[in-house]
Amino acid sequence: MNNLTVVDHPLIQHKLTIMRDKETSTAGFRRLLREIAHLLCYEVTRDLELDMIEIETPMTKMMAPTIKGKKLVFASILRAGNGLLEGMLDLVPAARVAHIGIYRDHETLEPHEYYFKAPGNLEDRLVIVVDPMLATAGSSTAAVTKLKERGATNIRFLCLLAAPEGVKRFSEEHPDVPIFTAAVDSHLNELGYIVPGLGDAGDRMYGTK
Ligand code: PRP
Ligand code: URA
Repeated sequence: MNNLTVVDHPLIQHKLTIMRDKETSTAGFRRLLREIAHLLCYEVTRDLELDMIEIETPMTKMMAPTIKGKKLVFASILRAGNGLLEGMLDLVPAARVAHIGIYRDHETLEPHEYYFKAPGNLEDRLVIVVDPMLATAGSSTAAVTKLKERGATNIRFLCLLAAPEGVKRFSEEHPDVPIFTAAVDSHLNELGYIVPGLGDAGDRMYGTK
């Protein structure tokens, strides 16, 4: 699929294997997600445009590159998106942050929005939506639709794990939004969980359930 990038760097794959292991602790899971976010952030921002500005080093004046345009927006789909968000902010501390509260009903798998707060001028900014899990794509497609309603036109979606069913639906509903992921797994089970997956990302991050 054209709009799908699988970031299969060995360090990411190694860390993801530890995250998948059901014996990995909550603290370990959170730390690894943050570390993988650094590596994914590097890839999702790889083609950002640069401007040249004049600076003065201790030796001389020079023209030096700096990221062009308005500050990026990272849009975290709560709760689990915050695990990726922290790592992204480590690398781009000046980014603006949008929070989108969405949970999926365990019975119907339909997304329910309970919170939305985003910076202004979304139309002038690159918005990178983050959520570790792309399962049915109900949550991520709803989040992207909302951001578009608020003016965003330049959007990327970054996750850790995707199901083929979710990638298909997301690409059909938002063909203009590239997807970056560390892996595409086998399938969704009858409860809408990614298989082999890693379980419930929010619960594993925060020690709930
Ligand atoms: C998880 C995950 C995604 C969503 C993916 O969140 O973090 O947001 O499920 O599933 P989907 O692609 O089928 O919509 P969850 O609803 O469990 O909420 P939480 O992060 O608050 O635990
Ligand atoms: N949400 C999760 O946290 N895990 C899955 O496998 C599917 C949706």
